[in-house]
Amino acid sequence: MKQRIFISGLLPLLLLLSAATADAHNITHILAGHPEFSTFSHYLTVTHLAAEINHRRTITVCAVDNAAMNDLLSKHFSLDTIKNILSLHVFADYFGAAKLHRVAKGSTTTSSLFQATGEAAGTSGYVNITDIKGGKVGFTPVDSGSDDQPVATFVKSIIEEPYVISVIQISHVLSSPEAEAPTGSPTDVNVTSLMTNQGCKAFSDLIIAHGDVETFTQNLQTGLTIFCPEDEALKSFMPRFKNLSADNQTSLILYHAISFYNSLGMLRAGNGLMNTLASEGAKHFDFTVQNDGDDVTIETKVITAKITGTLIDRDPLAVFKVDKVLLPTELFKAAPASPAPKPSKSKKASAGDADSDADAESPGPSDDDTAADEDSTNGGGRIRTGGGFSVSVCFALLVGILTAVF
Ligand SMILES: *[C@@H]1O[C@H](CO)[C@@H](O)[C@H](O)[C@H]1NC(C)=O
Ligand SMILES: *[C@@H]1O[C@H](CO)[C@@H](O)[C@H](O)[C@H]1NC(C)=O
Ligand SMILES: *[C@@H]1O[C@H](CO)[C@@H](O)[C@H](O)[C@H]1NC(C)=O
Ligand SMILES: *[C@@H]1O[C@H](CO)[C@@H](O)[C@H](O)[C@H]1NC(C)=O
Ligand SMILES: *[C@@H]1O[C@H](CO)[C@@H](O)[C@H](O)[C@H]1NC(C)=O
Repeated sequence: MKQRIFISGLLPLLLLLSAATADAHNITHILAGHPEFSTFSHYLTVTHLAAEINHRRTITVCAVDNAAMNDLLSKHFSLDTIKNILSLHVFADYFGAAKLHRVAKGSTTTSSLFQATGEAAGTSGYVNITDIKGGKVGFTPVDSGSDDQPVATFVKSIIEEPYVISVIQISHVLSSPEAEAPTGSPTDVNVTSLMTNQGCKAFSDLIIAHGDVETFTQNLQTGLTIFCPEDEALKSFMPRFKNLSADNQTSLILYHAISFYNSLGMLRAGNGLMNTLASEGAKHFDFTVQNDGDDVTIETKVITAKITGTLIDRDPLAVFKVDKVLLPTELFKAAPASPAPKPSKSKKASAGDADSDADAESPGPSDDDTAADEDSTNGGGRIRTGGGFSVSVCFALLVGILTAVF
């Protein structure tokens, strides 16, 4: 019986481990063996596209040699523009040489990472792949303005790891007027109107209403990553938001940003605890960033939110959409798995936050009553944490198995 549990627990673990190994490609390492692509590889690194590529499964990278890169560099584009152009060279699908030579109906359209930057409008993040006469394969960015002539052709395959990563060489740099458009400095971006226009209007309104815009823009110069809750999520949370004291409302808003730049690739690579703009002194207000395959989740111990979109991702500014309001343990009840946090109680006693207490419960009931109240009013949050709990149970199980094996 014990043996049975052990084995049935071990199998998914082994699958998990092998999936993790298959997953670990490193585009810099792959290209290091081919000095003719050293410039291309260098620019993948400095634009952070390398990290993005390394953490995606099912991807095709169209490399160009140093001569083609020199043509591009002679145009003196900004690094942001070069990033946009190079992101046209990374497809979110797998194309090995064989698949390229028999694209259905002689032509197919695939989406590139440029589509995912938040920079591309309309169809400009897509690339047409065409099987042209004489066994050649042509690549033409949609909206490139060159309808009859492919911009580049397939040269050779560099490595193929079927359905995970394919790195091929193409003859010329892929570009489009949209990708080459001057990007302007990200620090000139109007963050609130960006959020308003891309599905985070409610959060943007909240920042403006609370006069927190400056706290955000001050950080813009040195780096800023914002996680804005989707409108639907924030709207249903508003009654609970209004119940918080003004100070706690501010903390909750600032809890949605980090004071440095993180691309999606960096978030995927850098699993771990992160401080937020609300963190100061003994107030942790932190959360854990965790990748889950291609997804990135944010675990606060109260809820687990998922990144569902990118509004902008341009050093030093990144804004990501999340599917839930991030609830810090400092303000909301944590999942039952973790020991109930009571530090706020002792802090209250010593620091004497009398005004805030009055705000919550006027006729002075005991702290325990307040806690009980929290319990019932945060029902929604606690149901959601059920998932987090079972995940940590699974994790504990895995750790248990690991210890048993090794
Ligand atoms: C990828 O490979 C390069 C060159 O071999 C190495 O310097 C770099 O540390 C590797 N990156 C990761 C994330 O392993
Ligand atoms: C891309 O492919 C689509 C569908 O095959 C076609 O309508 C369009 O004209 C092509 N665009 C370019 C730039 O080749
Ligand atoms: C951002 O845009 C909003 C609305 O379009 C405007 O009211 C606000 O003044 C702008 N903020 C900055 C810093 O330009
Ligand atoms: C707000 O607080 C009051 C008093 O503590 C409570 O009765 C009410 O249920 C709370 N509402 C929400 C939506 O949490
Ligand atoms: C903020 O919320 C916590 C937890 O509900 C509470 O203990 C604290 O008194 C509040 N602080 C203020 C300033 O309202």
